[in-house]
Amino acid sequence: MPPDCCRTDYDAIFDDRMARREASTYRRHGPRADTRRLVGAITGAGVEGATVLDIGGGVGVVGQELLAAGAASLTDVDASRAYLATAQAEITARGWADRATFRFGDFVALAPTLDPADVVTLDRVVCCYPDWEALIDASTAHARRMLGLVYPVDRWWMRAGAVIGNVALRLFRQSFRFHVHPVARIDARIGAAGFVRRMQHRGLVWQVVLYERPNDVQRDTASLELDPLLPVPR
Ligand SMILES: C[S@@+](CC[C@H](N)C(=O)[O-])C[C@H]1O[C@@H](n2cnc3c(N)ncnc32)[C@H](O)[C@@H]1O
Repeated sequence: MPPDCCRTDYDAIFDDRMARREASTYRRHGPRADTRRLVGAITGAGVEGATVLDIGGGVGVVGQELLAAGAASLTDVDASRAYLATAQAEITARGWADRATFRFGDFVALAPTLDPADVVTLDRVVCCYPDWEALIDASTAHARRMLGLVYPVDRWWMRAGAVIGNVALRLFRQSFRFHVHPVARIDARIGAAGFVRRMQHRGLVWQVVLYERPNDVQRDTASLELDPLLPVPR
């Protein structure tokens, strides 16, 4: 029996229609607010010449933003064929095909075949994957300098929304489930892998967090934007 992650049909939920709609929204309006915040934190820390690994890159928004900001190269890994093909088409249309690589599949399974990157991003991906520990471990192992995430706050309304949403997904015979994973344990696991939080913003639904390996953490605490409820890294 394969683990839950491998039974999820990402193609069924992240399909061609959704991909076309998301790509069109991005072309017209730019990135979502949380994505913009993540990208701003990464570019603020310096992305010029960096290699980027965008896990669950969707239609390629983070990848396009970081390539536009001067990243040297992008590897986009996605478990949805439609999203990956759309990301490839969009990035090719912008003239960056030679700086981008696209890999289809579950990042956790593909991880041993992928090179590490300076910057690793997971924008609304942790909530799509049942085995958060495996996903976080493979991500930290691939991040040389920075790890950026957008993922759900673990508050009661999110857990209630996930239960209701997952009942609907089951009724529509979708194998996909939305997960609200434990924030404090995710943060501790990333810390144990050698990262410190550089920026954190917590909204009602999503939180945006940028971690860096300590050698790259500048001592400019004025630019830190940390949640007061969580311990400030030293
Ligand atoms: C909610 S979408 C977010 C897409 C994009 N990052 C964004 O914020 O617009 C989640 C994406 O992650 C992909 N995904 C989820 N788990 C994955 C995994 N383990 N490996 C690769 N892709 C994954 C899905 O196929 C989907 O394209």
